[in-house]
Amino acid sequence: ALTADDKAHIQAIWPCVAAHPAELGGEALHRMFVCHPKTKTYFPGFDFHKDSAQIKAHGKKVVNALTEASHHLDNIPGALSKLSDLHAYDLRVDPGNFDHLRHHILVTMGCHFPDKLDCCTHQSMDKFLAAVGNALTSKYR
Ligand code: HEM
Repeated sequence: ALTADDKAHIQAIWPCVAAHPAELGGEALHRMFVCHPKTKTYFPGFDFHKDSAQIKAHGKKVVNALTEASHHLDNIPGALSKLSDLHAYDLRVDPGNFDHLRHHILVTMGCHFPDKLDCCTHQSMDKFLAAVGNALTSKYR
């Protein structure tokens, strides 16, 4: 579970990302598509070039969902319940892909906010993103 320190770390750094949702969310997705090309199969017809309008629009949605989760750190599954239904029942995204995206969100944060992502904040963010992944894959059966 997230400790009080984790919550403080998350709430200190996440607004930096939330202020640039399309750019940073898009960068994280682009890195995932480059390093894990199989993830592209979930997005048929997408323009996968860096900073394409589709990647940025989708990156914005992902970051905004994480921002919403960051406001409900005591009840992440509740805050993401509808998204959990979507990813589990409709999209059927392989759960392993959430670990990939989590990694690329962290890399993107490290590139843009190197001074803010000290190792304690890194650890807290990793726990937060893991909790989001667990929430979004909890309805698989
Ligand atoms: C859609 C968030 C992980 C594939 C969405 C939407 C959001 C979202 C907010 C839009 C829902 C809507 O339009 O109502 C997240 C978050 C993730 C995550 C917060 C984890 C941090 C993933 C992963 C994949 C994926 C790992 C696959 C590799 C998709 C697809 C759609 C979608 C295919 C539908 C795209 C479309 O047709 O517009 N996600 N997602 N998501 N997500 Fe995720």
